[in-house]
Amino acid sequence: MNIPRIELARLPTPLQPLDRLSEETGGPRIWIKRDDLTDTIASGNKLRKLEFTVARALSEGADLLITCGGIQSNHCRSTAMVAAKLGLKCHLILRGSPPAEADGNLLLDRILGAGISYVSSESYQDMDKCINDVASQYPELSAYFIPVGASDETGLWGYIECCAELKEDFARNNIEPQYIVSATGSGGTQGGLIIGSALYDLPSETIAFNVCDNEDYFRDKITTDFRLWEERYHTPVKTSNLSINVIDGYVGPGYAKATQPVFDTINRVAQLEGIVLDPVYTGKAFEAMLQEIHKGRFSGATDMVFIHTGGVYGNFPQRDQFGFQPDGNL
Ligand SMILES: Cc1ncc(COP(=O)(O)O)c(C=O)c1O
Repeated sequence: MNIPRIELARLPTPLQPLDRLSEETGGPRIWIKRDDLTDTIASGNKLRKLEFTVARALSEGADLLITCGGIQSNHCRSTAMVAAKLGLKCHLILRGSPPAEADGNLLLDRILGAGISYVSSESYQDMDKCINDVASQYPELSAYFIPVGASDETGLWGYIECCAELKEDFARNNIEPQYIVSATGSGGTQGGLIIGSALYDLPSETIAFNVCDNEDYFRDKITTDFRLWEERYHTPVKTSNLSINVIDGYVGPGYAKATQPVFDTINRVAQLEGIVLDPVYTGKAFEAMLQEIHKGRFSGATDMVFIHTGGVYGNFPQRDQFGFQPDGNL
């Protein structure tokens, strides 16, 4: 379909087998789709979505992008970078108080020149008011609001089109993976993969591990995005026939809070494969996937693909959790 899109991400990203890790783990061969390599500063899954979301914003005449997220939001950082690249103003509505030091993504937001409003969790609930307050600071600009994670009916296209890329990856490597696995945080990556797998006839079932909220929340969110997508874009895909598979139970202490096994998994994957995950999304989901492999959920599968959705900067503010001593040893 001819959906308005601008080129932002470096595509296609590589699909790589994790041979050492798979051998050590036992079970299916694990492949990793390197969407952490979509760019450097704007790296990660958000860039695929922003190709469609920002194209829509531009077509509606926007010159101010407003978006929102946590203090360490990867999505906000990617949006700030894209806005700078395109000569647009960006203003971020971040949930929480300004930390004593700007670290990780927040430091990058500031380097990239994004305007920032810090709002309490309570005020954040009334997002319409937050947006109006921000827009009124820029009376000469035309604002476009990108929802959290760029997860809406337009952002879905990012991972729908990623499935076309995966189809080629599978053909090139002569594999038919039974599963595609990702973290789910605002539902757009998972939703896009579900529709894209149907549209491009992939052999794989999409499974996502929620890193916040719960299974019901994501089913509702994704179902709503699907309905809006069908209403806006008329394609042959009937989303009511598609399964939304969320594996709940791995949120741990809460969003952006991880237990020691997640940090151990980040270290293990880095040291075995030279690939760095993060404690908020990919490390949590990867650790969950390894536990489910161990429990036998994927037994019988020959190949599975983990989508590395980025997030490396989220490691820096959590440096103390890795348990390294000042001399660099564990
Ligand atoms: C690094 C990373 N991985 C995964 C996700 C989850 O993707 P989605 O928001 O599309 O559910 C996010 C954002 O929420 C993210 O920043």
